[in-house]
Amino acid sequence: MDRLIIQGNKPLKGEIQISGAKNAALPIITASLLAAGESRISRVPDLRDVATMGKLFENMGLSYRYHREGVSVDTAGIRHFEAPYDLVKTMRASVLVLGPLLARYGKARVSLPGGCAIGARPINLHLMGLEKMGAKIMLEAGYVSAKAGRLKGASIYFDTVTVTGTENLMMAAALAKGTTVLENAAREPEVVDLANCLTSMGAKIRGAGESIIEIEGVDALKPIHGHEVIPDRIETGTFIAIAGATGGDLLLKGCRPDHLGAAMVKFREAGITFRDTKKGLRVIGPEKLSPADIKTRPYPGFPTDMQAQFMALMTLAEGTSIIKETVFENRFMHVAELRRMGAIIEIDGGTASVKGVGTLKGAPVMATDLRASASLVVAALRAEGESVIHRIYHLDRGYERMDEKLRKAGASVERVTS
Ligand code: UD1
Repeated sequence: MDRLIIQGNKPLKGEIQISGAKNAALPIITASLLAAGESRISRVPDLRDVATMGKLFENMGLSYRYHREGVSVDTAGIRHFEAPYDLVKTMRASVLVLGPLLARYGKARVSLPGGCAIGARPINLHLMGLEKMGAKIMLEAGYVSAKAGRLKGASIYFDTVTVTGTENLMMAAALAKGTTVLENAAREPEVVDLANCLTSMGAKIRGAGESIIEIEGVDALKPIHGHEVIPDRIETGTFIAIAGATGGDLLLKGCRPDHLGAAMVKFREAGITFRDTKKGLRVIGPEKLSPADIKTRPYPGFPTDMQAQFMALMTLAEGTSIIKETVFENRFMHVAELRRMGAIIEIDGGTASVKGVGTLKGAPVMATDLRASASLVVAALRAEGESVIHRIYHLDRGYERMDEKLRKAGASVERVTS
């Protein structure tokens, strides 16, 4: 299992190329299931989650190829219509095959994701929507079995804003007969990117990026011809946190700061300054960080996927910050590890009170999930002395060659395999 050894307390300086967004690439890859023939998708990041999606596709009998420019998928050979437990348990986004398989082939069998490290994360809203569109859903032995003739357009209201739920139903509705209206839909940039890709395939979608999305079903869709995935806003935010924590000066190339929503406001409140340049977004960390309170919310609110990294930043501020997690329960697992590095954090339910300590001390720590591991990298880069981050495979799920990018900006980061 790989680990990262980081010698901290160096300001990072240099250029960093931002990769394609994991959470846009995964649904777009599953959208290829909606069309006959070969789809090509560009700017797909080279990540463990993308490789897992590839395994899932090969398992279904499809031809799937990852190459430098992206991913090619040919749906001709599909034989199995299933996402097995072994793959779904390592990557929840596997449930995104449900909508496309059901819409195009009328059948799908997908393992229930089950308990996951950041809370219960059910898929009841995905299933409710598909049932409204005429699917018959059965739950057996930990699997969802779904069958349908041609799906029918329906009016669907989400009690809770769900990103992959919105995406699954948008894909299903694209091939349904009639019009589907999704209310209280997720407005994340990744939903908009998927909608743009579907539109390029011939889908008729209005309102993506707003809370009401209307999809007029069509009889068939064309394969994807080189759709370019949007830049990863969470990777961007993580490097902003790193520049902020280390008092660094980074030029983030190819990013979309307008996709960061409330996070940009909070980074500025913390004292980080930004300059839009021709080459990219220049991010300058302050000498001293100011505290800032955050509350995670669906887009355009502060993203839950940035909460852990922002908390690491706030452990270094002069003063106390209140961090409220409202999207997932149990998403404070990084707290125990940050405390090992000297952070002072108190937890009360979904609220963390972070008393800034100015500087942290290097320590051996354990990554518990994807974004928690990113928060440990932020902390370790600012800590005095050496930190060893174990179980770095979590980081590799969602960050493309992060250690390499950090080294290019002057960080002392070594990956050790044992
Ligand atoms: C997606 C992102 C993930 C991010 C999350 C929230 C992908 C691949 N993953 O996950 O990185 O942290 O959005 O921004 O895009 N819920 C229900 N019933 C459902 C579905 C969701 O109650 O059927 C609840 C969840 O338990 C959670 C909330 O809705 O409390 C939001 O979850 P959701 O937006 O669905 O997260 P994901 O789409 O799984």
